[in-house]
Amino acid sequence: MATTQQPHSQPLTAFARDVLQGLSATPKMLPSKYFYDEQGDKLFQQIMRMPEYYLTDCELEIFENHKEGILQAFGHRRFQLLELGAGDGMKTKVLLRHFLERGAGFKYQPIDISRNVLLELEESLRAELPELDVKSLEGDYFQVLHELRGGVQPKVVFFLGANIGNYTLERAADFLRSIAEALNPGDLLFLGVDLKKAPEVILNAYNDPAGITAAFNLNLLRRMNRELGANFELNDFKHWETYNPISGEAKSYLVSLKSQHVFIKALNRPFHFEAWEAIEVELSRKYSLSELETLAKKTGFAVRQHFFDKKKYFVDSLWRVE
Ligand SMILES: C[S@@+](CC[C@H](N)C(=O)[O-])C[C@H]1O[C@@H](n2cnc3c(N)ncnc32)[C@H](O)[C@@H]1O
Repeated sequence: MATTQQPHSQPLTAFARDVLQGLSATPKMLPSKYFYDEQGDKLFQQIMRMPEYYLTDCELEIFENHKEGILQAFGHRRFQLLELGAGDGMKTKVLLRHFLERGAGFKYQPIDISRNVLLELEESLRAELPELDVKSLEGDYFQVLHELRGGVQPKVVFFLGANIGNYTLERAADFLRSIAEALNPGDLLFLGVDLKKAPEVILNAYNDPAGITAAFNLNLLRRMNRELGANFELNDFKHWETYNPISGEAKSYLVSLKSQHVFIKALNRPFHFEAWEAIEVELSRKYSLSELETLAKKTGFAVRQHFFDKKKYFVDSLWRVE
């Protein structure tokens, strides 16, 4: 495999390569998966507790109110449970606890790109659910889909918290198709999706007055300073959020407040930002139910059941591989 190399230096890390590609593009962009360093994990946990960030409350409500229905809908007494982008597992634990109480036989495999969050999750599971059989895996879920292959037990894959919304429709479809191909017919995908709703509700969730989301997004600049030797001045950038009610795309940007150069030592080069030039740092796509059902059909799944919160802001949708 070809490695990108800087003159007189080490091969680039995946982070450095993605930053080089993203900041050389027009418009500039950075992949949101790099938000989750130790500080980013902590800030995301604060976001989940914010009243404006309805997504967590809605999904938690769904799990608390429908945990038995969800287990019944799986239809398996024994299964292998894999979770993509598990995070701190705060909501998942509601289901895990219930499944154990009901005597379901399953092994839990959380997968996450953040080593730190996985260590925290394992420790909390050992304390709270000591009887749970856990084997976690650190990695990018786009690269560990082979983990879904093989084995004789039916599989249930969790992809919760509206993570699927971080991808364009095309990339989401490719990813879902790869999941379906790695699974066997009859295996299940349990997908947490944020639904289209009043635009102001969506905007407020990513634009909180306390500035926690802004701090979460700006932390990406801090991470580049620390890990890549960049010299971003955080005060020279501003968080900006938009929502397009037609495409359902909420987007977070970091906007340069002035014309400036930022030098990144790991890339041995400067990057120029014009005044008011923006870096796109996160996409959070919202779906209508009909868009979701079309997506299932074209990626090799059949929708088996939808589980909603009372306001119908969010859906956890159970899909079966055809
Ligand atoms: C928005 S949080 C959601 C966490 C959890 N699913 C929930 O609903 O609370 C996203 C999680 O996915 C992880 N993540 C993001 N991109 C990833 C990727 N490409 N591969 C593996 N994990 C990823 C992050 O580290 C983070 O823990």
